[in-house]
Amino acid sequence: MSNLDIQKIREDFPILKRQVNAKPLVYLDNGATTQKPQVVIDAILEYYTDMNSNVHRGVHYLSQISTDAFEVTRRKVQEFINAKHDYEVIITKGTTDSINLVATCYGREFVQAGDEIIVSAMEHHSNIVPWQMICEDRGATLKVIPMNEAGELDMDAYESLLNGKTKLVSVNYVSNALGTINPVREIIQKAHAIGVPVLIDAAQAVQHIKIDVQELDVDFLAFSGHKMYGPTGVGVLYGKEEWLNKMPPYQGGGDMIKDVTFEKTTYNELPFKFEAGTPNIEAGIALNAAIDYINDLGIDNIKAYEDELLAYATEQLSTVEGIRFIGTAKEKSSVISFVVDGTHPYDIGVLLDKLGIAVRTGHHCAQPVMDQFQIPGTVRASLAVYNTKEEIDALVAGVKRATAMLV
Ligand SMILES: Cc1ncc(COP(=O)(O)O)c(C=O)c1O
Repeated sequence: MSNLDIQKIREDFPILKRQVNAKPLVYLDNGATTQKPQVVIDAILEYYTDMNSNVHRGVHYLSQISTDAFEVTRRKVQEFINAKHDYEVIITKGTTDSINLVATCYGREFVQAGDEIIVSAMEHHSNIVPWQMICEDRGATLKVIPMNEAGELDMDAYESLLNGKTKLVSVNYVSNALGTINPVREIIQKAHAIGVPVLIDAAQAVQHIKIDVQELDVDFLAFSGHKMYGPTGVGVLYGKEEWLNKMPPYQGGGDMIKDVTFEKTTYNELPFKFEAGTPNIEAGIALNAAIDYINDLGIDNIKAYEDELLAYATEQLSTVEGIRFIGTAKEKSSVISFVVDGTHPYDIGVLLDKLGIAVRTGHHCAQPVMDQFQIPGTVRASLAVYNTKEEIDALVAGVKRATAMLV
């Protein structure tokens, strides 16, 4: 049993009190974005009320306090993922931005014609398309680790894909479409055995699973603030100093330079080399509150509770006639994807919405996954720490009611 007081946690999220279609909101679309606790909302309000000013440039008081608050977040992220240095934490717009940064900058420096980049069959589009773009640009090839019917990666196939032409491996820690937890430690070790760096897309992991970048020995890690109880428009790229230093800047502009003349520009040091222009300051500052919130609950407590809820939801949904789970890996986290015989996921989603239940339907930005399972999409319920067994019961009753109407 979990040691978290879920009812008390729910009180922290004002939106959970609202009704949707005259029914209490049951929010099960946390994989898309989580709701925000009051402390995060307050941090945004406080920024605009008390300290609004640009960061890293003014000598005046407001600029100093907003810069300090922004940099506190960087150090909080450093602690949260146990990075060796705070300058290995690049503040980005989100996971997509972080992955594009690495694809562009690492790609420009290290990827040549004939080289190979490895991704997996269960990636979000944002961990496929940036690599396709750089491969096309450089004349390199994208290789894909296959997965089995349960949605587990074929690790033997992965090993046979690794070779002297491999320049980088980029895989997700947790699949947003299937919920699979991938064996990232083993993936990293195998790539490192032949000197290849690894990027882990932790967009669906960092809010559920303790991540220690030094222990994992991961080269790059990407995640988004808005999926971890924080604001939208901010995310993180962790990169090992040795790699970040070897990569050219991403975008040109203010903050990322040391000196600019029309003849020659020299670039700023880490992390600013990769942070051109005014960042999303309020979101950067409020991310600190989101990480504090997770730390106060304890990430291991969150995981234990969500695992319990996932097991309960899987068991209860199994009683729906004609249900087929998409993603039945042994190691799973917080995502239940399913289809029901004779129904379209979209229709179930619309009927659930009428009952105040928010789920995601469709391909979840992972079309290749849907293609492998030969389905147009799934219904996806994705869990957060404030969800309850009663909400799962409402989901199951809603799915039964919807299928009774549709079949
Ligand atoms: C596994 C995974 N990677 C990347 C992303 C993209 O995240 P963002 O849209 O916040 O950049 C998502 C979003 O759903 C995701 O689930």
